Amino acid sequence: MDPRKLLLALRFVGLRTALRAVWSAWERDRAERSIRIPHPVPWQPIRPLERMDLLPDGARFNGPDAELEVRFLASDVLRLTWTPGLLPLPYAVVRETLEETPIAWAPQPDGWVLESSAVRIAVSAHGRLRFQTPAGCVWREEDPPERGGGAWRHRIRLRPEERLYGLGERAAPLNRRGRVYRMWNRDPGGSYGPDADPLYLGIPLWLSLHSDGAYLVFYENPFDAIFDLGATEPDAAWVTFAGGALRYYVFYGPPARAMNRYTELTGRPPLPPRWALGFHQSRWSYMSAEEVRAVARGFQEHELPLQAIHLDIDYMDGYRVFTVDRRRFPDLPELIRELEGQGIRTVVILDPGVKIDPDHPVYREGWRQGAFCRLPDGRIYRGLVWPGWCAFPDFTDPQVRRWWGSHYRSFVEMDVAGFWHDMNEPTTFTAWGEPTFPRTVRHALEGRGGDHREAHNLYGLLMNQAAWEALRELRPDRRPFLLTRSGWAGVQRYAWNWTGDTESTWAMLRRTLSVVLGLGLSGIPYTGPDIGGFSGAPSAELFIRWFQAAAFMPFFRSHAAKGTPRREPWAFGEPALSIIREFLRLRVRLLPYLYTLAWETAQTGAPLVRPLFWLDEKDPSLWEIEDAFLLGPALLVAPVVEEGARSRKVFLPSGEWYDFWSDQRFAGPGTVEASAPLERIPIFVRAGSILPMAEGGLTLHIYVPSTGGGEGSLYHDDGDGFGPYRMARFRMEREGNRVGLRWVDEGELPWPWETLTLRFHGFSVRRAVVDGREIPVQGDCFTVRPFREVQINGS
Ligand code: GLC
Repeated sequence: MDPRKLLLALRFVGLRTALRAVWSAWERDRAERSIRIPHPVPWQPIRPLERMDLLPDGARFNGPDAELEVRFLASDVLRLTWTPGLLPLPYAVVRETLEETPIAWAPQPDGWVLESSAVRIAVSAHGRLRFQTPAGCVWREEDPPERGGGAWRHRIRLRPEERLYGLGERAAPLNRRGRVYRMWNRDPGGSYGPDADPLYLGIPLWLSLHSDGAYLVFYENPFDAIFDLGATEPDAAWVTFAGGALRYYVFYGPPARAMNRYTELTGRPPLPPRWALGFHQSRWSYMSAEEVRAVARGFQEHELPLQAIHLDIDYMDGYRVFTVDRRRFPDLPELIRELEGQGIRTVVILDPGVKIDPDHPVYREGWRQGAFCRLPDGRIYRGLVWPGWCAFPDFTDPQVRRWWGSHYRSFVEMDVAGFWHDMNEPTTFTAWGEPTFPRTVRHALEGRGGDHREAHNLYGLLMNQAAWEALRELRPDRRPFLLTRSGWAGVQRYAWNWTGDTESTWAMLRRTLSVVLGLGLSGIPYTGPDIGGFSGAPSAELFIRWFQAAAFMPFFRSHAAKGTPRREPWAFGEPALSIIREFLRLRVRLLPYLYTLAWETAQTGAPLVRPLFWLDEKDPSLWEIEDAFLLGPALLVAPVVEEGARSRKVFLPSGEWYDFWSDQRFAGPGTVEASAPLERIPIFVRAGSILPMAEGGLTLHIYVPSTGGGEGSLYHDDGDGFGPYRMARFRMEREGNRVGLRWVDEGELPWPWETLTLRFHGFSVRRAVVDGREIPVQGDCFTVRPFREVQINGS
């Protein structure tokens, strides 16, 4: 272990635990002795496929040692399964098929062709696969797969210009090509910086962009895997799974379409409660109710909006899960009530490890019910975490999920608003080797049985499933709010994510943008970093810049490790405090827009934070941009990620853009030098956008294009629960000196605002006619009652 890491680990876990970690690593090694992995793996190409049997939506191809099944789940979605190998349990997917798809087939000189209206796949007798358009343009090409010692691997040809994105949480550049990645969820141990791999939440999928189109591939296989994306062979990707069948889904189409299909298959990220989009304050740990009160008071006194406070592990009694330390938090329900009175929700952390302590009721109960993971010899597996030796619920058992979920009741009764799931990679402290369970640990896997090799990457996903299902029952009229460190494909159905224990460095702030973008492109739209980084002492400048960037990310939370200097917004004095206040207020102003984006995400799976190529995936000049991002369709955010920088270059994609701060108009494509004094980061608004903002009442900011049209929408509901909603869609059209604005509504909720303000950007208003009646106007801004149509004259 690197000595710096060792010191850091000591600081976090203490000497006693560090010494036990030696024992724990030794126990793990002993438990894993029975696993022998052949080295080198004796890879064998499959022998040729000999026959084809047509299925209603695809075909099955058989050879002497392998079978390939190809099914069209929709015209643009294929599922391919190479066996032999264990089929995955359907933890990631929620649908078996997407839509009925007529297909045609034809024999070929060296194989077969299957075709829908959107995709043609040519399967050669040797097992080579070519994915094409019906016109014959190839957009993915695979060589025949190989088998070795129960493992599968295959090679995908890459084109020179091809870029690859995704793979879940990666501290790598946005374009993942040229590196090797491991798919094995892992706590990097106390802190991580750029390029660390793997991290807590891998998703075996990538999005590919090249000059003949785009597609997304998702491997439904939870086993340990290596994704070599052009590192060993520059023009090929190698994907190797240590076990299981080689099953994958291929989604053809541009990113928005592919993500829509992918989240149709694996589940959409549901609409969160609105408060979750506000600011969250956290620290490891607020040690007492008094400290929490003081923090809340600080926010009030400094006039800083705050929506949630997080309680880290020290609220528990000796880190025993589902307990409360009554000395530090003598009346937690009362504290929660008090905070709620100030508009602040309480979120508590929960770790899966249950302290092995006969006096701990959760342990006793779990033991009685056989809820804990066991070693092959039948003993309960023990691993080391914060409480010391722990037993771990087997979330792959539906009964255990229910049992675990039942423990949320007491917190729900106290009105705890959300739950923060940590250490669920799962992580255990070990002095060397893998910081997790031995791979021989047994799991129920829905009764089919299996071991940790298969269950490891699923553990976090299923912990969240357990909690989600419990909360839906315990609090049926509220939307659950879960935050998780680990997960797998499908975890977006249950939980938000944060990017874990980052270093407090400029380099990591820079890289954080790619981490967040990459998660969004992996189906995880709700994520964000610990502001300022987790493990260090950011300077005021770094903290300010981090705060400014995070203000535009879905999960907006300040958090810091034990022993680090205080980070509450006032800790840095002025001008930090005033700057932070401005960004907190800006976030509040943006909430109607963010909430509308959340609604869109729940419908389509589109991430809130998007790479610039989301605007036009065919434009290669956007493919590598990773120092800026889009927040929804309207905003381009260019955080400052260099120390001392007071301006920065921003690439504006084609179209017209408004500087958010000054309203100056720019024509893209092109690079501008945008000013970025400490109190600002460059933000641009796409001309044609209509941005709803909370400014006293509701304001629609209308960014008028010099010609043509634009649109915007506003989703509104109670902010929680499952009641009626209202969706207002606005459409503007400019013709010379006239702008017309139309409003169409949908939903049952009565429109909640009596009036609204229209503020025009880049257009000065002289005359306004609302639903046929002229109203007096002055300047760029006027207030109206709900309308159907407004006609404006001006210039
Ligand atoms: C882990 C988490 C971190 C938390 C700490 C103590 O390191 O990633 O956010 O503060 O554990 O619970």
